[in-house]
Amino acid sequence: MKPVLSKKSQSFKRTISPVRQIMMYADQAYLKTLGIKPENLISFAGGWVNHKAPLELQKAYKEIVSDDESMHASGGYSPTLGMLGCKEAIVKFEKHTYAVQNLEPCHIAIGASSTQLLSDLMRVLLDPDDKVLLLDPSYCNYQSQIVTATDANIIRFPVIDVDTWEYNADKRIGAFVDYIQKERPKAVLLVSPDNPTSQVLSQDFVVAAYEAVCSIGSFLVVDFAYKDMVFEEKIPEYFSWGPTDNLISIHSNSKWSRSLGRRLGWIEADESVIQALDSIQSSTILCPDTLHQMAFQRCVNEAVENNTLRPYIKKVSDDYKKAAFFTVAAIKKYTNAKFLVPQGGLFTCIDVSMDGAVFVEKALKETGVLLVPGWGFGKTLKNAVRLSFGPLVYDLQKIEEGIKRVSRLL
Ligand SMILES: Cc1ncc(COP(=O)(O)O)c(C=O)c1O
Repeated sequence: MKPVLSKKSQSFKRTISPVRQIMMYADQAYLKTLGIKPENLISFAGGWVNHKAPLELQKAYKEIVSDDESMHASGGYSPTLGMLGCKEAIVKFEKHTYAVQNLEPCHIAIGASSTQLLSDLMRVLLDPDDKVLLLDPSYCNYQSQIVTATDANIIRFPVIDVDTWEYNADKRIGAFVDYIQKERPKAVLLVSPDNPTSQVLSQDFVVAAYEAVCSIGSFLVVDFAYKDMVFEEKIPEYFSWGPTDNLISIHSNSKWSRSLGRRLGWIEADESVIQALDSIQSSTILCPDTLHQMAFQRCVNEAVENNTLRPYIKKVSDDYKKAAFFTVAAIKKYTNAKFLVPQGGLFTCIDVSMDGAVFVEKALKETGVLLVPGWGFGKTLKNAVRLSFGPLVYDLQKIEEGIKRVSRLL
């Protein structure tokens, strides 16, 4: 008799996940069935960056692998929540770049990636039937991360006016606070700069969210995957907040240092949360990657010492800002579509005035341009698509060509 898989995994297999759908579109075999030659495809689908990693990082890896002893050390397990030297380097990084207050190594848990850490954190924070509040739209992977890790319920608060296509989080602060107080979610999960909208949440919005969660004894979790990619000179003050009883932040090396394939993430939280993560993480990944921690530690120490870290981050932000402005100009030049002006990160969202999933199929078949349908990010983006300019940051002509090609469908 053939054994059956768990109900959860079966139901998961039946539901189309936005991430799986994106992966399917990028599959060479699928493109072939549509008669698209890979060399003619312009893809705005990838949520990844394409700048060079810091030189100090490359140097650190070289030094580690070319030295017998460090190479040997990098093959050992690290402590469950990461090495002290790497935690100290994270504290240095945060203080040097954002003057983060009240942050000590005891507030840090290092993991394999922010994806893994978020799942483990949800296990630490949530009981079955607790609620997690996400904005609508919000990062498409959260839904599956929360559902696979816990039996919590996801609730949503819309921040796009679908008629005017205005990102109206600031206008809806009062309603947001009322919603938190009425629904009493155990955790409110925000991203800033955001995926998919590339908006940076305002200080007022985050302060209001923080005060609301404090008033009901819940957690505000801020995902800072794109923290180092903000286009305005003035950065909101909450980028400098250290952890408190109610505030947790999640960080990733993937984007700022282009380490998507050499992943490392960390959580900043109160010691009680960190201690609870210790037992969960020891059963999920046992410990984070030692080589990446060693390299990160060397890289940050050297780049802070030589004063190259801040200029590197500034240059990276400026390059994506240029690509963002170029994208905005091309959308305006070739279309009359409504869209969001990016304030950081890699994306914009465009109103396509029809089902975004249908539009994506049509655009792919008729123009060889790949976008991501908006539905996976929330109901507000059902008639929209996400465009990522990250992979094309140094190929601006291709961005223009892609937008020009797809414009006839808009
Ligand atoms: C908002 C957000 N959080 C987290 C991640 C994943 O980060 P990591 O590579 O650290 O798992 C992504 C990746 O696209 C993201 O967009």
